[in-house]
Amino acid sequence: MATLQGDNVVVPQMKLERLLSMKGGKGETSYANNSQAQARHARSMLHLLEGTLDAMSLPPPTDTFAVADLGCSCGGNTLFIIDVIIKHLIKRFDASGCAPPEFQAFFSDLPSNDFNTLFQLLSPLTIKGSLEECLAADGARSYYAAGVPGSFYRRLFPAHSINVFHSAFSLHWLSQVPESVMDSKSPAYNKERVFIHGASVYTAQAYKQQYQKDLAVFLRSRSHELKTGGSMFLVCLGRTSVDPTDQGGAGLLFGTHFEDAWNDLVEEGLVDGQKRDHFNIPVYAASLQDFKEVVESDGSFSINKLEIFRGGSPLVLNRPDDAAEVGRALANSCRAVCGVLVDAHLGDQLSNELFDRLERRATIHARELVEHLQFFHIVASLSLR
Ligand SMILES: C[S@@+](CC[C@H](N)C(=O)[O-])C[C@H]1O[C@@H](n2cnc3c(N)ncnc32)[C@H](O)[C@@H]1O
Repeated sequence: MATLQGDNVVVPQMKLERLLSMKGGKGETSYANNSQAQARHARSMLHLLEGTLDAMSLPPPTDTFAVADLGCSCGGNTLFIIDVIIKHLIKRFDASGCAPPEFQAFFSDLPSNDFNTLFQLLSPLTIKGSLEECLAADGARSYYAAGVPGSFYRRLFPAHSINVFHSAFSLHWLSQVPESVMDSKSPAYNKERVFIHGASVYTAQAYKQQYQKDLAVFLRSRSHELKTGGSMFLVCLGRTSVDPTDQGGAGLLFGTHFEDAWNDLVEEGLVDGQKRDHFNIPVYAASLQDFKEVVESDGSFSINKLEIFRGGSPLVLNRPDDAAEVGRALANSCRAVCGVLVDAHLGDQLSNELFDRLERRATIHARELVEHLQFFHIVASLSLR
């Protein structure tokens, strides 16, 4: 839990998983209202997801078929994806001459995720017999649903219980900010910065090591939980540069203007410099090589597909030439994904000030943001060896 020390809220590193979540509810800065870009990026990758499902051998239809979405968050994106996966599998079972099995979907995220908002979006369960009924009933849910709270950097499910793991836009979140990055005596101390983007080589090394450690634990955990013949489809922020201090789109979202907004608060005397240094975004956009090295050294999975996919901008804009709209969209996007961490570190009032400064700065740089803010995603299709 966060504890009070003087006027600082200190979040011990190992407790990050108790705190981290996207902004819940349905307000202007909620994740539910700021995840249309992720929805669009996910839709542009559906052919890759379906390719993964087509490459699986179908289990006996008498077994329950279990799908888990890891890092599901609280918007409609996870419901859309689970629906796509299950409808695609129903078609495959039908094409093979079998009645579809019963499907179970697990929505998994950290305990602080707004599962209530998510569950309220679930349509009523209508398990039906024929393929036509399953596919025609638009908006109907043809699977049993359950929520699974916990970090995907630990075991979440019993051994050999899941057929398909899906995870989108989540695995770039580290389990913690690397300790040395917050240690003023370490060469990796990220002084005057809040993200790896543009940081020193030592800071970058610390982030990379944390990423390697976390991804290895993730893979090992999933390797125990997958059923024989099971598959995993993963999408996470990636970068095209070899240099990890160039985080591409993530750098523009969590570095650059966001960092300048923090510095504004320091210069205005609203936040102490050290307090700023003790906030870092636990995100790492990996290169394909980073990802591949960890999968290969773990050795539990074969890589069926691995590519870097141009996702486009995280901003959804009605009028890209309206600088004020661009500024607001950037601030809302940033707040939807890391606002909860900032609120815990600064308190609500200073957090408002920070995102206010970010909006102003992003408005000034609107044109650059529209032209250059691009996300790239690592897309991986893995199966058990
Ligand atoms: C940007 S959201 C992605 C949501 C959704 N998959 C989508 O496509 O819109 C990232 C999610 O990853 C979750 N997350 C981050 N670290 C996690 C961890 N260690 N274990 C489980 N979920 C985690 C966050 O809580 C958040 O809900």
